[in-house]
Amino acid sequence: MTTELDQMQTDMLSAIDAASGLDALEAVRIHGLGKTGTITGLLKSLGAMTPEERLTTGPRIHALREAVTSAIAARKAALERAELDARLARETIDMTLPAEPALIGSIHPVSQVMDELAEIFADMGFAVATGPEIETDWYNFTALNIPETHPARAMHDTFYLAGEHETPMVLRTHTSPVQIRAMQASGGDKPVYIIAPGRTYRSDSDATHTPMFHQVEGLVIDKGITLGHLKWTLETFLKAFFERDDIVLRLRPSYFPFTEPSAEVDVGYTLQNGKRVIGGSDHWMEVLGSGMVHRKVIEAGGYDPDQWQGFAFGCGIDRLAMLKYGMDDLRAFFDGDLRWMKHYGFSCLDVPTLSGGVGA
Ligand code: DAH
Repeated sequence: MTTELDQMQTDMLSAIDAASGLDALEAVRIHGLGKTGTITGLLKSLGAMTPEERLTTGPRIHALREAVTSAIAARKAALERAELDARLARETIDMTLPAEPALIGSIHPVSQVMDELAEIFADMGFAVATGPEIETDWYNFTALNIPETHPARAMHDTFYLAGEHETPMVLRTHTSPVQIRAMQASGGDKPVYIIAPGRTYRSDSDATHTPMFHQVEGLVIDKGITLGHLKWTLETFLKAFFERDDIVLRLRPSYFPFTEPSAEVDVGYTLQNGKRVIGGSDHWMEVLGSGMVHRKVIEAGGYDPDQWQGFAFGCGIDRLAMLKYGMDDLRAFFDGDLRWMKHYGFSCLDVPTLSGGVGA
């Protein structure tokens, strides 16, 4: 019996050694250690042996199983390593190969601006948050202190989804619902520093309005937050975005249901050859809405308004892009005209980075 087992071990170990791939190795494993495998059969036969036989043969069979199991594991690791090496060798890309010019697309100004915003705010410690474009009317309105009877609902020219829904569904009219979602995701006990860029929808269409447009929301929830933090953040953001130090902001008292107090923010510009150039304070242009987050909104997000304060702002991205890159018709943004894209688009290789500067 012992010589038989020795022979079996020698045979199996050489079969393992000879297995040329993972499939072949698996076949060897099944042959020896599978449900009806030879070693499994030997282990089962232990029960029928006399106690003396079991005493001498038992340890030998177990040793055989050990030897085969560890040889298979070692061979498997070696085969996997070889396979990975082969794949790495096979999948090299020649980075010096020129790309097919016809295949090089360009980055849409809206995408470019969204990337710039993410870079600028990341530098100030803000993460990027997202939310669904099809929202419940609770997130889009109620949680933001816009109850059903509030005139702001009518002002938003909301697209409601047809059909029966458990709760009324809308195409979000602004990125503000992401404020609520971001607070909820933070669990009510941690500071929140996020921006939320994305698509928004209103039933509105002319030279300066399109039914789908883009906004970026900003939200800070922390302790001891004041209007001063809001103003500094907006100033730092706009200086980095327009790449100018002479940005002047004017905060005008305003009203939004979700902030108290609320302010509309104007940025100063000068006219040079009939074109608006951001900077200085000759003329003013409204660029965003903002304010200190309303207690009811902090509560709806699951935070205690007696402990946590915050500020928020919302800004049209398309407008920012037009101002920075000098386009004058919003509708061209969504026409899909390749000539326009060629003129205003950005090279797909020029991704804005903090180290390279947003204008890089
Ligand atoms: N949601 C507003 C809108 O679409 C913009 C806005 C104003 C957002 C003030 C804010 C804010 O977060 O504080 O018109």
